[in-house]
Amino acid sequence: MPDKIIGFSKLSRDKKISWVSKNFLDNSIEFESILNKYLNDDKNIQSIHNSLSENVISNFHLPYSISPNFLINNKNYCIPLVTEESSVVAALSNSSKFWYDRGGFKSKVLSKIKTGHVHFKYDGNAESLEKFIIENEHRLIESTDRITKKMRERGGGISNIKLVNKSKELKSYYQLHVDFNTIDSMGANFINSCLEIISKNFKELLNDSSKFKESEKRIEIIMSILSNYTPECIVESSVECKIDDLSDIDGITSKEFALKFKNAFDIANIDISRAVTHNKGIMNGIDAVLISTGNDFRAVEAGIHAFASSKGMYKSLSECTIIDNIFKIKLKIPLSIGTIGGITDIHPMVKLSLKLLENPTSDKLMNIICSVGLAQNFAAVKSLVTSGIQKGHMKMHLINLLIKQNATKDQINKAEAYFKDRDINNQSVKDFLDLN
Ligand code: MEV
Repeated sequence: MPDKIIGFSKLSRDKKISWVSKNFLDNSIEFESILNKYLNDDKNIQSIHNSLSENVISNFHLPYSISPNFLINNKNYCIPLVTEESSVVAALSNSSKFWYDRGGFKSKVLSKIKTGHVHFKYDGNAESLEKFIIENEHRLIESTDRITKKMRERGGGISNIKLVNKSKELKSYYQLHVDFNTIDSMGANFINSCLEIISKNFKELLNDSSKFKESEKRIEIIMSILSNYTPECIVESSVECKIDDLSDIDGITSKEFALKFKNAFDIANIDISRAVTHNKGIMNGIDAVLISTGNDFRAVEAGIHAFASSKGMYKSLSECTIIDNIFKIKLKIPLSIGTIGGITDIHPMVKLSLKLLENPTSDKLMNIICSVGLAQNFAAVKSLVTSGIQKGHMKMHLINLLIKQNATKDQINKAEAYFKDRDINNQSVKDFLDLN
């Protein structure tokens, strides 16, 4: 076991690699050469990557794909996607093509409030504190004027501050609940900076007040932080068509397909095991766009899954209805994202993705991301209730299995025809390579 290392971050890249290599990679030249191969030859680009994180010794590449023909609110988009899962983009492209001819996706942003909290402990009269917050709400908002100036000029800022009494759930625990509109930025840093100023001023104002006993003034600020639960920052997308326009799919009639599809959605609404997988299919598309556009996919994932549980049980995020012969699917999710700030004007690939999407406002990007999630959901469930997921999935995965077993270019070319009607797995690929 290596000794604990102090000051690792101060070492040069070469020294960091030597230390890692000596202690964890058996001094392997091969691993060092991989780290070097994945460095960018363009020094400017590499220096951008180096500055994004700490202890950077190389880059980690993922495929950057495009899904064309994506009709959202009557506009044709070309979607940039970053994902390592072989079948995701192919499935999405089929789905978007399918819905293109049926009117495309309709999407709207329903609300756009983000929140943050000052979490604190207070031992005193709750009503007096509530009155105090109502009386001082404007002063607290004004205390952030210097940093909210630009956001206010763009139409955003802090809309209100209220006291939330949580002392029944946790002794002495209260929150200042602060609502924000961050316009086109995700706004995490903005929100956190505002909250820290508000907490400081709250403490000072309370201390200067003559309406509280000395013991009541001794509040303890526990922390000031935005919430990634954003149930007031909601977008909804849908697609619909006549059942007959679904066309016969994989050997079943459009009516049989519609009913089976709806059954699959209904199962995801009542069964947690299925709901999680159903929602994972939605996130396949959502995460891929979040990453390509430089958004915080961890924040969105956390918020969306909490939203899926907001009725007391984890449920499906999407729903399917069949009313008067109209087949409709709908996805409603919280989505706190940005199209300015963060790495949007730093990372060249993120800039390119946003340019591909015609530099959207955050509302437009919310519409795009939600529609991609719904399209991905449709593609997955369509396969599940017809041919099964493995057919398309393994077709895309075949190339990975071939490369893993060192197939030649010629063998790779022959493999597609050979496996058209055969099972694809490690053994069958091995057998094929032995024969060819
Ligand atoms: C695989 O990445 C996603 C699916 O499991 C989603 C689903 O089951 O709906 C196919």
